[in-house]
Amino acid sequence: MNVQALAKQALEAQKLAYVPYSNFHVGAALLTKSGKVFTGCNVESASYSPTICAERVAIAKAVSEGELEFEAIAVTGDGDWTYPCGVCRQMMREFAPDLLVIIVKSETEVREHRLSELLPYSFGPEDLAEAKGE
Ligand code: THU
Repeated sequence: MNVQALAKQALEAQKLAYVPYSNFHVGAALLTKSGKVFTGCNVESASYSPTICAERVAIAKAVSEGELEFEAIAVTGDGDWTYPCGVCRQMMREFAPDLLVIIVKSETEVREHRLSELLPYSFGPEDLAEAKGE
């Protein structure tokens, strides 16, 4: 897996962020196990709550095209090191409990984490299956 190439795609996607309210630009690039990359940027709304994060845009794009298995996601934002919010961590958890999460500061400055480290003791689909006795 080419971490630098994925970081570059997140940085490119960040440029498309629609952020008239926060002016905080976020980009994400999601690598599927089949080798495809889906990018996303944050998209805000005048009524604020419909705002969607870059990571979830990328995930929804992939899932809506039939891709459900993910290898890694690169995330970049206007912060020094921008980490995914809790809602996005939970959405990543749905599909890939041990996803490689690459936090991108610049093309050459990245940090690598596992989702299990960023969202320990998580709740997921298996928990519901257990309760149903499946
Ligand atoms: N944002 C993301 O796109 N991803 C995150 O993980 C954190 C927050 C966006 C949402 C909103 O458009 C802006 O950053 C400020 O919260």
